[in-house]
This record gives sequence, structure tokens and C-alpha cells, in this order.
Amino acid sequence: MGFPPFFRVLREKGGDSAALSLSDFLAVVSVDRPTKIKLALSMNPLLMRPAELTDAESIARLINAAFNPERFYIDGDRTNPEKVRGLMDKGKFLLLWDDAALVGCVYVEVRGERGYFGLLAVDPARQGAGIGARLITAAEDECRAAGCHFMDLTLVNLRTWLPPYYRRFGYAECGTLPFPIDQRPPKVPIHLVQMSKPL
Ligand SMILES: CC(C)(COP(=O)(O)OP(=O)(O)OC[C@H]1O[C@@H](n2cnc3c(N)ncnc32)[C@H](O)[C@@H]1OP(=O)(O)O)[C@@H](O)C(=O)NCCC(=O)NCCS
Repeated sequence: MGFPPFFRVLREKGGDSAALSLSDFLAVVSVDRPTKIKLALSMNPLLMRPAELTDAESIARLINAAFNPERFYIDGDRTNPEKVRGLMDKGKFLLLWDDAALVGCVYVEVRGERGYFGLLAVDPARQGAGIGARLITAAEDECRAAGCHFMDLTLVNLRTWLPPYYRRFGYAECGTLPFPIDQRPPKVPIHLVQMSKPL
């Protein structure tokens, strides 16, 4: 990928990385988008923290934007602030912030010796730059620290690129489940694929 464009931008901006906004940087530098975002993140590290109830609106907005690609098989928003607050009774959301902007989240729940993560969501403008990977690792660390020996997740069977993505982190398909009846009915027949890994 090469770092020269990065340093050229910094030099043009006077060498002060703090003065260079992400959008300035993305607009000027001429490398592919994931590389741009990785470089920008190295200038402005993201902050990870557990969610508070007051974050529910931001979390719901991020999830609904990220899950927009699911609209071809299910109408409507993926979640809302009330559902997010409901999940916080059973588990927690881990959040990644870029200053005041929420750029990623994951829901984590401890279920005895098994951990579960879901609603993994990255701002569509920041996808493909390792934010999802960082959230998966954080969810696993959280469950390992709580004494879990396995980590579980589910995905909709039509999301064909997701199993290879999760296999990269050591997950393997281990079963299927019916699509939950408490969600809006899908437009086509779908089911959930279960994946797990030992922690
Ligand atoms: C799934 C998701 C969280 C991954 O986060 P991310 O920050 O984009 O992922 P990472 O940067 O860690 O990994 C990038 C890899 O993801 C895969 N990927 C990401 N978006 C993809 C897409 N739209 N199509 C195909 N592969 C994709 C690629 O394999 C990519 O690998 P590469 O960098 O070698 O090209 C993110 O794409 C997202 O929010 N998607 C919408 C919500 C969703 O589907 N959540 C999971 C439900 S189970």
C-alpha cells in the first residue's frame, strides 16, 4: 500500500496530524478506501467503551444503517432504541467511537459457559477497515473474562459472504434455527445459521 501518500498529505497540511480531519484525509489521499480508513484510524485511534442507556438512539441508528443490505429479504428497520434498551437488561453493547461519532457496535451476552454476540454493526462508510474484527475480538475477550468456554453467533442464511468472514476468526457452522417469529416476517423463506468457536 505504501505510506508516501499519507506523509505527503501530512506535509501539505503542515505536518500536524491533529489538524487533519478524516474527511480531509479521505478526500485527498490516493490509495484504496480500506487503506485510507486504516491510515486515518492510526491518526485518530478509536475509543472502545461499554454502552449506557443514553446511547440507545445512536446504537439503533447505527445498526439500522449497517443492516440496510438486509432489506432485500426483510422490510423495515432492524431495531429501535426500545429494543436496544431491552437487550441491555440481558447483556451489553460494546461501542467504538471516533470522537463523537459511533462507528461500530456489538451486542454481547453471557449464557452460562457460552458467550453470544450479535448485532455486529459498522458504519457503512467505515466497513472493510478492521473495525468489525476489533469488535469481534472485544466480544470474545468479554466472554472469556466472564468464564465462557465457547462463543456463538447466528446469521441469516442468505448473507453468503458472512460464513467465510466468521471462519477467518475460527468460527464453524454448527446448526440451523428457524427465523425468529418475534421479528417482522421475511419476504422470502429464510433461516438462521449457527456458528461457534471454542474460546
Ligand atoms: C459484517 C461487518 C460488521 C464487518 O465489519 P467490517 O469492519 O466491514 O469488517 P472487517 O474490516 O473486520 O473485515 C473486512 C472483511 O469483511 C468482508 N466484507 C465486509 N463487507 C463486505 C461486503 N459487503 N461483501 C463481502 N465481503 C465483505 C470482506 O471479507 C473483508 O475482507 P477484505 O478486507 O479482505 O476485503 C460489517 O460489514 C457490517 O456492519 N455489515 C452489516 C451488518 C451485518 O451484516 N452484521 C453481521 C450480521 S451476522
